[in-house]
Amino acid sequence: TAAVGFTGAHQAGIVTPAQDRLHFVAFDVVTDSRDELVGLLHAWTAAARRLTAGEATGPDDTGEAAGLPASGLTLTVGFGPTLFTAADGRDRFGLAARRPGPLAELPAFPGDRLDPALSGGDLCIQACANDPQVLVHAVRNLVRLGSGVVRVRWTQQGFGRTSSTSSAQATPRNLLGFKDGTANLKAENGRALDRFVWVGQDDADWLVGGSYLVTRRIRMLLEEWDGVPRGEQEAVIGRAKDTGAPLGQRAEFDPTDFTAARDGRPAIPRNSHVFLSHPSNAGTAMLRRGYSFVDGTDRDGRLAAGLFFIAYQRSPESGFTQVQRNLAGDALNRFTEHTSSAVFACPPGVADDDDWWGRALF
Ligand code: HEM
Repeated sequence: TAAVGFTGAHQAGIVTPAQDRLHFVAFDVVTDSRDELVGLLHAWTAAARRLTAGEATGPDDTGEAAGLPASGLTLTVGFGPTLFTAADGRDRFGLAARRPGPLAELPAFPGDRLDPALSGGDLCIQACANDPQVLVHAVRNLVRLGSGVVRVRWTQQGFGRTSSTSSAQATPRNLLGFKDGTANLKAENGRALDRFVWVGQDDADWLVGGSYLVTRRIRMLLEEWDGVPRGEQEAVIGRAKDTGAPLGQRAEFDPTDFTAARDGRPAIPRNSHVFLSHPSNAGTAMLRRGYSFVDGTDRDGRLAAGLFFIAYQRSPESGFTQVQRNLAGDALNRFTEHTSSAVFACPPGVADDDDWWGRALF
């Protein structure tokens, strides 16, 4: 229920211990006026400063969070490739020359079933908190403040964090029933964060200390999954379902040993999710911060559920894209379908009371 600090070298909501709930919003900018866009970023920053402290946005606040604590609310902003160069090639805000090289649309991956209306966006806000009422209040008031400047393109709500981002947190389970986040990069891994998560001096100057955000809405085919015996499920993931231990080991945090054998075969199968995504085979790492979702049931009465995958990395290409390419032969792919995709550059943190989201960019 405590408030998370809003200012700092990096934006809150990345290595902040993952909260229980997510409300993610992607926006399209509907004005061509650079001044209106800058005005909105000023207004959003002021509102975010108050909201994350558990305060109302001002006299026009919608009121439903009155009396509720800050609930660990973080608001993290990101800029999509189309903010710099619109889909039709226009440079609406004079930003085209400032687009960081790595901020490009993700390549297509085999098996993608992306819905364009649920993908992309000029801007995004990742809102996380421990109370869904606090979340909807924050999102609703930011949308209200954006009227005439931005339009909501798509949103995704999530519950039950599917990652730990701090070693002080217990590892949660995803909807497959497996512990998720065991081998994640965590707040305490300072050097690995500098290497894999925070944008360095080799990228655009306004983005140094920021990070690239990749989101993928991954539908899980849970009815298929539930028909698979536990031993086979474990072979798909590469870890034990109850303890979360790597196959061939005993405890959750035992190191993965890809040389361990069982019945003359590798204990961790070569097409398992953990084998293919592990840094020793994927050649890289990222910070995962995803959430489970259940968007009701589909027309066939199947749970419209899955994992809203969120990853932070210092470059989309050497982070998500590299791992996702390596996952082309993942045994897990039989049970998943990617239905939405987006990429954003998240600027560094707001330094002080006069600073605002994206100041160094404009
Ligand atoms: C590890 C589940 C999609 C990257 C894991 C683990 C589970 C899991 C249970 C093992 C525990 C852990 O270390 O966190 C899932 C599910 C997915 C999914 C259910 C889809 C519905 C992805 C995607 C990527 C990814 C799309 C990246 C492209 C990773 C990485 C690890 C991991 C990097 C850590 C591997 C290691 O270092 O041992 N995932 N995952 N996952 N996953 Fe996923």
